[in-house]
Amino acid sequence: MNLDFPTEVVKEGKTSVVVPKLKAYVKEVWEYAPSKAPVFYNPAMELNRDLAVLALRTYQRKMGKEISVCEPLAGCGIRSVRFATEVEGVRKVVVNDINPQAAELAKLNVERNKLTEQVSVANEDANLLLSRYAARRKRLNFVDVDPFGSPVPYMDSAVRALRNGWLLALTATDMAPLCGVHPKACVRKYGGKPLRTSYCHELAVRLLAGCLTMTAAKHEIGVEVIFSHSTDHYVRVYAVVHHGAKQADKSVRKMGRILHCFTCLHREMSKGMFSPWRQDCAECGSKLNAAGPLWLGKIFDEEFCALMEKEVAGMNLGQEKKIHKLLSLARIEAEAPVTYYAADKVCDKLNLRIPPLIKTMDELRAAGFQATPTHFNSRGIRTDAPAKTVTEIITKLVT
Ligand SMILES: C[S@@+](CC[C@H](N)C(=O)[O-])C[C@H]1O[C@@H](n2cnc3c(N)ncnc32)[C@H](O)[C@@H]1O
Ligand SMILES: [Zn+2]
Repeated sequence: MNLDFPTEVVKEGKTSVVVPKLKAYVKEVWEYAPSKAPVFYNPAMELNRDLAVLALRTYQRKMGKEISVCEPLAGCGIRSVRFATEVEGVRKVVVNDINPQAAELAKLNVERNKLTEQVSVANEDANLLLSRYAARRKRLNFVDVDPFGSPVPYMDSAVRALRNGWLLALTATDMAPLCGVHPKACVRKYGGKPLRTSYCHELAVRLLAGCLTMTAAKHEIGVEVIFSHSTDHYVRVYAVVHHGAKQADKSVRKMGRILHCFTCLHREMSKGMFSPWRQDCAECGSKLNAAGPLWLGKIFDEEFCALMEKEVAGMNLGQEKKIHKLLSLARIEAEAPVTYYAADKVCDKLNLRIPPLIKTMDELRAAGFQATPTHFNSRGIRTDAPAKTVTEIITKLVT
């Protein structure tokens, strides 16, 4: 195969693959190498890929069936090669990228790993490819949409290409719209309004899941979010699709708004797509701001997170430590209240130093409230305490 650009071999998970030699494409240290190379490869997304392999392994084991997988925007193919080698029961993987050089490189990686019987590589638009799997008998068990920016342009075709009861994974890297820096872009793409709050990453997951819910509902398909995670650079949602108008209605009922008061930090949920919502803050009377419509349902399934935790042992994943930490937090978060308080942001507002997180949570619990940490923010506390109580407890601890 004739690749006329600098490459190198890297090892990730149980596989070694050929990738563009990123150092050859950056002249200055601040340049973002993955998008300069002729084929996309980002070593920093190892955690994202490790979790994808883990989630699929866990779900396949839970369902106990042979599966077909599709990665419609695959870059050099590293993720799909990993699905084929690290997940049991994978009968077929369809790898695709619109960039001909990416498809060539993915083919090379499939051949190097002796996977040609199981893995096919295509070179076309992701929506064209996915549409071919929309017919009842052709549908797939897992679709992983991992694009540049927003996955929304591929959502319809991804949902239609999935079998009833099977799994969809979506990455969104367009954090500026989702976190409220470009609210108009978020409304356009996701059909919901973001807010620049200290818990905007949770809002980003809920806006993405909300958009998926409404997209799937058009096709009379319901969704159930079983796992999600976030970093500064992207959010990721794993959802199971359930066919049927009733299932779609059930999911739509989990849509609503999160109301936020920028004066006192009070927040509350307003359930329903079209229900009227409170305009003034119940705690201080200031005007409330509304985020959404967005997904108000669960964003982690405790049982699935526990199964993932069990599965991770023995997989020898590169990011195992981070995964353990993330999963143990996600399990706690699964049953915790919606939204969190970022202690540093509360203290900035009150001009106070930051109290120890554990002490703050202990005090909240002693006062009779729930209080748990969150993977979204190392200084975040999920609690059902009123904003006034949170600020009083923080003030008491540092003055
Ligand atoms: C973020 S990269 C994929 C990274 C890959 N999933 C991984 O885990 O390493 C996004 C890829 O989408 C491809 N792409 C962009 N638009 C596309 C389209 N309409 N159809 C198919 N692929 C597309 C790009 O060429 C790029 O390789
Ligand atoms: Zn208020």
